[in-house]
Amino acid sequence: MSAYTQSFSASSTGHEPSPGGGGDTLALHAGRPRDPGAPLVQGIIQSTTFRQSGVGDPVNHAYSRVSNPGVSELESALGELEGALPACAFATGLAAETALLLATLRTGDHVVLGDAIYGGTVRLLQQVLAPFGVGCTFVNASRPAEIAAAILPRTRLVFIESPANPTLSLTDIGVVARITRAAGVLLAVDNTFLTPVLQRPLDLGADVSVYSTTKHIEGHSAALGGALVTRDESLLSRLRFIRKSTGAIQSPFNAWLTVRGLRTLPLRLRRHSDNALRVARWLQRHPGVRRVNYPGLASFPQADLAARQHLGGLHGGVLSFELAGGVPAGLSFLRSVRLCSLVEHVGSIETLVTHPASMTHADVPIEQRLAVGITDGLVRLSVGLEDPEDVIADLDQAIERSIGADEPAAEQRLAATAGSAVIAAANGGAL
Ligand SMILES: Cc1ncc(COP(=O)(O)O)c(C=O)c1O
Repeated sequence: MSAYTQSFSASSTGHEPSPGGGGDTLALHAGRPRDPGAPLVQGIIQSTTFRQSGVGDPVNHAYSRVSNPGVSELESALGELEGALPACAFATGLAAETALLLATLRTGDHVVLGDAIYGGTVRLLQQVLAPFGVGCTFVNASRPAEIAAAILPRTRLVFIESPANPTLSLTDIGVVARITRAAGVLLAVDNTFLTPVLQRPLDLGADVSVYSTTKHIEGHSAALGGALVTRDESLLSRLRFIRKSTGAIQSPFNAWLTVRGLRTLPLRLRRHSDNALRVARWLQRHPGVRRVNYPGLASFPQADLAARQHLGGLHGGVLSFELAGGVPAGLSFLRSVRLCSLVEHVGSIETLVTHPASMTHADVPIEQRLAVGITDGLVRLSVGLEDPEDVIADLDQAIERSIGADEPAAEQRLAATAGSAVIAAANGGAL
């Protein structure tokens, strides 16, 4: 029985969790209503509220801050894709993370986090929750013993990202899950880069998968969104309660766009992964490139773990690299790309480049950034669905221009310890 057939038999009676895998058929059909007369593509129910037959009578949807038919379709599909309960969908990935933290923490509690992690997550903990008395410790999550050592009696949650953003370092999720289970602590995994198609944290023992659906799941740079996926009924109802109470639900239109993206997710991820591997191998051979981080490369320090933990022998579309010419070369390169777009984004159909130090990670203290390898010269590349030879040609011309580049003004700004923040300020503040 294929993953789809299993899932279909379970979901055709409603939206029960299913043991379905992350295949093409499942992604195309998960969460679709199948009753006779149902439209193949659901409409966008752009209504704030729903008529009720009488006071106290049960209704499927009452008010769109709590639930909405289109949001529910997205939640069922995402939940089925991960063999879990329906997801809880949010307006953004950071709204999802905020809800998770509010649902699991109280004043005085403590979180252990991987130190190579999305900058917005670091900011949320250090600048938003710390004043409310929530403590956190950042550790090298590729060494599970460091996670175990950092767990305190008041620790409630371990939050990791694997592959991590933007160094691509991996955490052995199964090993960490055994540690957190033994300690009675929840494990959340930000699975944004791989999605349930290429990695299934819940199968490895995690309690919650965290997604910025803004990235690969929607995949077309058209809709922000976030989601939390779990198999724990009581955690799910607490998450829904927090979402209702804080007003962080996904909008009907963005849910519709995200469902549309999800339908082709496995297909896209195969091509993203193939293209990224080709580009990574090319970069690795280029004399102008100092190092390339991509889990699919044989030289990747955690290649064995990548092969065990990622599904289908694929490793996603994101890689990072450092040019031999350091910061001046990196800045010149970013100025010179033509086909690739310099943006604060990852995981879309077109190839995107980012400068983590001044963009996604500008709010991470510089010592913390450098300690995990997010140097000022590091470039993140999210390889799109173009012909990979066209991407390589663009990278080639931009790297050629960067060789021997002299960017004295930028070098000066970056040389100051607050350099990244200066550039971020010019960008209107870190996102
Ligand atoms: C790995 C990861 N997690 C979470 C987020 C936050 O998502 P959003 O921008 O949808 O709030 C991002 C955003 O870049 C991300 O890259």
